[in-house]
Amino acid sequence: MNILGIETSCDETSAAVIGGGRVLSNVVSSQRCHTGFGGVVPELASREHERLIVAIADAAVTEANITKNELDIIAATAGPGLIGAVMVGLSFAQGLAYALDRPFVPVNHVEAHIFSPFIDEGAEANPPEGPFVSLTVSGGHTLLAVVQPDLSYEIIGRTLDDAAGEAFDKTGKMLGLDYPAGPEIDRLAFSGDPFFHEFPRALTSHSQTSRNYRGNADFSFSGLKTSVLTYLQKHPASFVENHLPDIAASIQRAIVSVLVEKTVDAAASRKIRSVSVAGGVSANSALRKTMKSACDEQGLTLHIPAARYSTDNAAMIATLAGLKLSRGMKPEHRYDTSPYASFEAAASGKVRLK
Ligand SMILES: Nc1ncnc2c1ncn2[C@@H]1O[C@H](COP(=O)(O)OP(=O)(O)OP(=O)(O)O)[C@@H](O)[C@H]1O
Ligand SMILES: [Mg+2]
Repeated sequence: MNILGIETSCDETSAAVIGGGRVLSNVVSSQRCHTGFGGVVPELASREHERLIVAIADAAVTEANITKNELDIIAATAGPGLIGAVMVGLSFAQGLAYALDRPFVPVNHVEAHIFSPFIDEGAEANPPEGPFVSLTVSGGHTLLAVVQPDLSYEIIGRTLDDAAGEAFDKTGKMLGLDYPAGPEIDRLAFSGDPFFHEFPRALTSHSQTSRNYRGNADFSFSGLKTSVLTYLQKHPASFVENHLPDIAASIQRAIVSVLVEKTVDAAASRKIRSVSVAGGVSANSALRKTMKSACDEQGLTLHIPAARYSTDNAAMIATLAGLKLSRGMKPEHRYDTSPYASFEAAASGKVRLK
């Protein structure tokens, strides 16, 4: 069975083909038109998706070495995301499915991140078996979930304010870095001292309050943001410039150690033996390394998709559609799915609301 996946929820235009459960192609175009704006400009994102979507979908089909008529199912992100951006990919995909008379499967983008460790390219495939604790860390979300083999899941923790990706991007912006600052902080941190400055790690055993939050599965990064701002205001620009790698490494350590502590605690306290990390921040090299050491120490198996599947991509959209169909979902010839902006609007698992 060949599934075409389409992803346009933010600033990546992507199309992928999964055939026989494996990735046959995954074409991703990252938009450059937002440079200098300090973030993604929604209207520009929609226009860029519109300009590229036909060519990207064609490229994915060609790279998979098939024709459009050999597609069996069309899947696309229906949300959450920038509503205009989602609408472009969703309308295109439903139009194509209607024209080809194929079933259409709408996919929740954040659920696609959660299930991205199931992306199968052959050699590198390492999907979790049995229940696993999923840490999903992206530009807009930070979630801890317990996921069952039947694809049901329960969100056990979430950020109370900023997402981990936002914490990287916003503190990076304060350091004068371009959006998205996460990859740049990762790069700078390689030559910095992570113990140069102790930034706060909220709701953990390292909290700078008298309470020990060990066991709490929620996250908070707004205090880190304020702390970085105050730190930068207190130090002369020349000091900051000279110690940029040290400050970046210290910020990164504060974010990563919170993510690792809470994920490993959640697995250990529930006697779950597998852990996964997904979403754009899972590309972070310190997070990968620190999570691996912590999992090894606790005897947990770690599943992280290859870095190219951490940030937004359509392979994860087609993969989740394929997983749902393999678990008994009946594909429908319906082409009237509307886009939605929030994860909760169409989450299929149990979500504990704030
Ligand atoms: N190496 C890295 N280190 C830290 N952060 C990173 C790295 N690479 C990417 N990121 C961060 O990942 C985020 C983008 O991830 P992703 O594309 O999954 O998010 P999104 O799609 O915008 O949000 P969502 O999935 O919540 O809708 C950005 O905040 C970016 O800074
Ligand atoms: Mg994403």
